[in-house]
Formats: sequence, structure tokens, C-alpha cells
Amino acid sequence: MKTINVGLIGGGFMGKAHSLAYSAVPMFFWPTDLIPVKKTIAEASEDLAADAAARFGFENSTSDWRSIVDDPDIDVVDIATPNHLHAEIAIAALQAGKNVICEKPLARTVEEAGAMYAAARATDKVHMVAFNYRRTPAVALAKRYVDEGAIGEILNFRATYLQDWSADPSAPLSWRFQKKIAGSGAVGDIATHIIDIARYLAGEISSVTALTSTFIKERPVQGAGADSLGNTKGGSSEMAPVDVDDEVMTLVKFASGAVGSLEATRNAWGRNNFITFEIHGTEGSIFFNYENRDELQVCFKADGDDRRGFRTVYTGPNHPNGANLWPIPALGIGYGETKIIEAHDFFTAIAGGEPVRPDFGDGYQAALIDHAILMSAETGAWTDVPLLDRETGLLRAAV
Ligand SMILES: NC(=O)c1ccc[n+]([C@@H]2O[C@H](COP(=O)([O-])OP(=O)(O)OC[C@H]3O[C@@H](n4cnc5c(N)ncnc54)[C@H](O)[C@@H]3O)[C@@H](O)[C@H]2O)c1
Repeated sequence: MKTINVGLIGGGFMGKAHSLAYSAVPMFFWPTDLIPVKKTIAEASEDLAADAAARFGFENSTSDWRSIVDDPDIDVVDIATPNHLHAEIAIAALQAGKNVICEKPLARTVEEAGAMYAAARATDKVHMVAFNYRRTPAVALAKRYVDEGAIGEILNFRATYLQDWSADPSAPLSWRFQKKIAGSGAVGDIATHIIDIARYLAGEISSVTALTSTFIKERPVQGAGADSLGNTKGGSSEMAPVDVDDEVMTLVKFASGAVGSLEATRNAWGRNNFITFEIHGTEGSIFFNYENRDELQVCFKADGDDRRGFRTVYTGPNHPNGANLWPIPALGIGYGETKIIEAHDFFTAIAGGEPVRPDFGDGYQAALIDHAILMSAETGAWTDVPLLDRETGLLRAAV
């Protein structure tokens, strides 16, 4: 068993989730090929970095992320900063020969995502984009049902990601409401997660028509003391414009011929992390709601007319990703577990010299879909999504 040195950049919400995963990987996955060592953490200032190191258990701290990228002792660069830094850090880290895991969305724009993918293709290092919801055991179980043909040919995939943390107009203008930092609003922040789930379960999206809206057009300028979503309660009396979407609805066509819809908002009072999907196939249906994330609901045509209906499968040790978690179904899978599985799969890929999914190619394809959604919302027209050819690294016209 060997160790692997991690340099983590960004000690906020995701810095906490990733640090937890690095500590927990050997507890859940034992024996393991590589034991992560929390070597160095970078934050925006020396004080923040020292705090983060003490809190999350890193040996060193720095306010200069470049010193992590330049450090020959660091094997893995983990990017958990706001989106505007993803491309610069990832490209520098890949060029320095590091394995890289980057939070979603891969980048602010499709151009940045394309440059990151090109840098990733130019190395033999492992790259991963942190679409961790794929690793929820119930979501992976849905994939198993689909792959086994249990619901037949997919006809319709509909998904939502609804939250309410931006519904209050007095919530301040955190980085998530600023295009120059975030790139987009609900589209890149949360719709991108259900776009990844849609691709994972129903295949490539070939065309979209979308509308976006920004209901809360200005917010108080952010003061000090941001909370875990980058908000500060109270804010200041100075107002500044919100220049990203806060709501998106889209119809989608899949390359397979299936159709679907995706909706995301951060303004839905009462909805917290309401990631849902429902898939209708020729032989049955699947329903998932992240707020009951141990459960997958399934319905099969073959059950017969007198007993057909949704039934609930509680995920546990017998389900995908479940064996290393808890010994009894429905003890409760949390957000942290998805990050532990993600980290384990990343280190396993590094140990085996194998690629892992979702990688920067998946992050780029999701960015192409985000881009088409934003274009369609502007023009009002159906917009084709180019498909990344993973063999050549080139884009092909939508099918
Ligand atoms: N996978 C998920 O479910 C999920 C959930 C939330 C956020 N995210 C993504 O994770 C990323 C970070 O989001 P977050 O919620 O942790 O944000 P956050 O605001 O809580 O944390 C970001 C941290 O980065 C730090 N930072 C800013 N500039 C820096 C610099 N130059 N060097 C080092 N650190 C710097 C900030 O001080 C802050 O602590 C974003 O890309 C976001 O979209 C993913």
C-alpha cells in the first residue's frame, strides 16, 4: 500500500466535503491501493489557509495555489475554488504532470472547458470532474437497471434540480450570482448536475430548447463572513446587478430518439436539494428523489396488469457502490458518502493507470450542453449540441 499526496485548492463547502473524503477513503475502502495524504491546502489568504489546514487536517498551508502546482511532492491537485479559477489551475496542474480532480461545472464557458480537455488529452494523468451525484448508490442502481434493459428502450427522461437558497432577495451577491466568476447561474451551478445524470442514464443530448429567467435582478453587495453557500446574512445596503440566470427550463432530444425535460432553480421555497428524475421506458419506469436518496422506485410492465405499480428498493450493501458503505440498507447514505466513493474511484484509477469517468471529456460535453441551453434561451430556437468524439478529441455535428 502506498500513499499519494494531495494539494487541495479552496477550503469552502467543497473543500470540507473533499477533505472528509480523503480522511474517510481508507476507513470505507480497505485494503486500498493508495492512501491519500492531505499535504497542502491553498486558500485566498494566509490566514484562511492556516485555518483550513488546521480544520481539515492538512500538513501545510499557502495563499498561492501555484506553489501546490509547482511542488514536486504533490501527486494530485484538487480544484475546489469558485469557477473562474478552474481553467487556469487545471491547465497549469496538468502541464506540471499532476492528476487533477476539478469541481463542477468544469469551467465558466465552453471555450475554457475545451482548453481544459485539450490539456487533459495531452497528458497520461488521470482527470476527473466532480459530478458526484452519479455515485449515489440509487443513481448507480438506476444505471444498472437501464443497462440490463429492465425498463426497455428509454422514451422519456425528465429531471429537476430545485433549491431555495436564492429565493430571498436580501441574500447577497455571492460569487454564484456573478457571471465573471460563475460563468452562468442555475445552468452551470445545478442544471449541470442533472445534465450529467441525463447523459449517464439516457445517453447523449443532441438538441435543446430552453428558457432562462432572472427574477431577482439585483442583490446587496456581499460583506465579510460568507456562509457555506457564499452568502452573508444581511449583506450591505449597496445593491449590484445579478447578471446570471436564476431559473432554467429546457426540453431536450437525445441522440437515441428519446425526449425529455430538465428544470433547475435556486428560487423554489421549500425545495432543498430536490434532484429528481423519472425515466419511462418501453418495459417500465424508474423514479428517484435525492431528498430520499436511499430509495429507488421502479415499476415494470412485466409485473402484470393486476399488480403493476411503483415499488421501493432501499439501497444497501448489495447495490452499486454500497458494499463498502454501511452494512444495512436504509441506514442513510449522505452527501459525504458520494464524495468518498468519488475519491476512491479517482485513486483507484490513478493506482491502475486507468481513466475514470466522469472525466474532463464529460465536463466538456456538459459545458457544450450548458452553452446550447444558454444560446437557445437567447434565440428562442432549438439548438443542436455538438458531440465530442473521444477518439479524436474533435467535435462532431449533432446527430
Ligand atoms: N459537486 C457538488 O455537489 C458541488 C457543490 C457545491 C459546489 N460545487 C462547486 O465547487 C466549487 C467551489 O464551491 P464551494 O461551494 O466550495 O464554494 P465556497 O465559496 O464555499 O468555497 C470556495 C473557496 O475557495 C476559496 N478561494 C477563492 N479564491 C481562492 C484562491 N485564489 N486560492 C485558493 N482558494 C480560493 C474561497 O476563499 C472559498 O473558501 C465551485 O466550482 C462549485 O460549483 C460543487
